Amino acid sequence: MKQLKIANIPGDGIGKEVVAAATDILKTVSEVHGGLKFEFTEFQWDCRYYLEHGAMMPEDGMERLSQFDGIFLGAVGDPNLVPDHVSLWGLLIKIRREFEQSINLRPAKVIKGIRSPLLNPKDFDIMVVRENSEGEYSSIGGSMYRGDDEIAIQNAVFSRKATERAMRFAFELAKKRNGHVTSATKSNGIIYSMPFWDRVFEDVAKDYPDIQADSQHIDALAAFFVTQPDRFDVIVASNLFGDILTDLGAAIMGSIGIAPAANINVNGKYPSMFEPVHGSAPDIAGKGVANPIGQIWTAKMMLDHFGEEELGSVLLNTIESVTNDGFLTRDIGGRHTTQDVTDEIIARLKKN
Ligand code: NAD
Ligand code: IPM
Ligand code: MN
Repeated sequence: MKQLKIANIPGDGIGKEVVAAATDILKTVSEVHGGLKFEFTEFQWDCRYYLEHGAMMPEDGMERLSQFDGIFLGAVGDPNLVPDHVSLWGLLIKIRREFEQSINLRPAKVIKGIRSPLLNPKDFDIMVVRENSEGEYSSIGGSMYRGDDEIAIQNAVFSRKATERAMRFAFELAKKRNGHVTSATKSNGIIYSMPFWDRVFEDVAKDYPDIQADSQHIDALAAFFVTQPDRFDVIVASNLFGDILTDLGAAIMGSIGIAPAANINVNGKYPSMFEPVHGSAPDIAGKGVANPIGQIWTAKMMLDHFGEEELGSVLLNTIESVTNDGFLTRDIGGRHTTQDVTDEIIARLKKN
């Protein structure tokens, strides 16, 4: 029996609601299909924890997390309690960086029963490989002077190692998919980092002569996401471009509430972390209406990561059968609650 130790960090707002839902679903998956057992340990490291302790996690927090096979996270952030950059750099970004989760893998594809806001979209199935450890999200910079002369400087950092790692990951992924990688660039306007990004892309592409490789400026790429999303297969993007593009990917699927993500540690030294694309949604927190599909599809990515692709497919097919039968939350035009959708997925998993 395969046993997986998972650290659950529900976080803030709807994170707590959707992690509870998706955890029940993972328990059902292991109950129904056997051969796999999850042992969940919950950590209440959120903005309230910060107010009490002055930090988002205890001093030995990372050490404790390193004992787990994986981390299942909802969303962090309650800007009314703690400034976002403090809570996010104290937990989410800290874990991504210190556990070398240098790849953030984020799909965007058509789901049966969920209507895209696009007019007549063709069937699209995109995988964004987001560089997750550096780029525009850097801790180098500062601000100086006050008043009218105040300036802030933020240096983007692009290392060959991390850039190449994201690109190789994208090409390897394209081999298993439709053999096409698009690089998101902006080398017409950003004159040091992006020409470097293009050069690394060209170098890596040479090792994959059978994969179609092309480059697109991020502004045009964003437009094509809306007008022709079906032209893409795998996209490799810097940290910030990947962040923006994946909210757009979620939007063209139908809602930010359904998009999943995996923060992958590729060298196997540390656990990977699974959290959806969306945030803690303070505007709907506590109302029981959050769409749980982003978190549940994220659970499917966790199953895939642990080599349980068959169970992962069962889970995604079950999600689609439920959406296709109209069990939809408010954000995608339905009237069902988080619990309704979760219960229906559980019931169908038990039937299959
Ligand atoms: P958000 O994703 O939380 O919300 C944007 C909009 O989408 C809101 O109207 C919200 O109600 C809606 N939405 C999001 N998830 C939904 C779901 N599952 N079902 C239905 N509707 C959903 O983005 P935001 O408002 O920019 O950020 C809110 C907080 O979350 C901030 O503190 C932000 O920093 C944080 N955040 C955290 C993460 C993370 O921890 N992974 C990711 C993004 C944002
Ligand atoms: C995401 C989020 C985070 C990011 C924020 C909350 C720091 O938007 O996971 O997409 O920008 O990476
Ligand atoms: Mn984001």
